[in-house]
Amino acid sequence: MTHKSTIAVIGLGNIGTAVTTNLVKGNRSVIIADRTFEKANALAQKLGSLAHPKEISAAIKEAEIIVLAVYFNTIKELFNDYATELQGKIIVDPSNPIAPDEKGGFKKIIDKDQSAGEILSSLLPENAKLAKALGTLGVASLSKAAFQEPEKAVLFYATDDTSINTEIEDLISDNGFEPIRIGGLDQSIRIEVFGEGLIQLHQNKTFTECAWS
Ligand SMILES: NC(=O)c1ccc[n+]([C@@H]2O[C@H](COP(=O)([O-])OP(=O)(O)OC[C@H]3O[C@@H](n4cnc5c(N)ncnc54)[C@H](OP(=O)(O)O)[C@@H]3O)[C@@H](O)[C@H]2O)c1
Repeated sequence: MTHKSTIAVIGLGNIGTAVTTNLVKGNRSVIIADRTFEKANALAQKLGSLAHPKEISAAIKEAEIIVLAVYFNTIKELFNDYATELQGKIIVDPSNPIAPDEKGGFKKIIDKDQSAGEILSSLLPENAKLAKALGTLGVASLSKAAFQEPEKAVLFYATDDTSINTEIEDLISDNGFEPIRIGGLDQSIRIEVFGEGLIQLHQNKTFTECAWS
């Protein structure tokens, strides 16, 4: 059997929990961490022996792929706080650069033409490689559409570094989805919320579960 890279999921809210649960369902081992060890430990107790709770620093050090399942601004903070541990790692960014708009909806918190993926690519820790992935579906769909049969649902990703395509595609496949690379990080805006391309991309692909929820 070929070796698959070790994954850590940092941030165990909606997306981090869904990704971890999918990976365990996909029989993939995963290191998990949040601000408190107790939160990671509680999820590990629920999911069984494939989920390994750690402190954030240890989780990043031990893994090759780090999924930062936290808000865009928190990713920037983590780049800063764990710059040494993140050196040379494959970093996965599922973030949408949005915040509540005080009218019950959401607003984009960066310029209209900017993407979180491109901004984060300019702030990367030394030798780290970035992929925009796992954030193209709302959390309900990310859970519900995983391992769909007979045709798998699609998750799009973007990266500048094609040497990590296999790792990202394995990560997406082991979440129960069909991976499709849409291009480099300059394409991130197409797969972030408010990116016009996302709906279009989904419409061009035949699969039953693609809606945000
Ligand atoms: N929800 C969706 O449907 C959806 C869909 C696509 C993409 N996304 C993106 O996915 C990311 C996560 O969203 P979410 O809905 O999962 O958010 P969430 O439910 O609020 O979860 C965020 C998690 O990050 C943890 N956290 C916050 N600061 C941290 C830090 N410094 N170190 C470690 N963990 C920290 C939080 O811990 P505490 O509990 O201690 O605060 C919480 O567990 C966001 O960038 C969002 O834009 C979300």
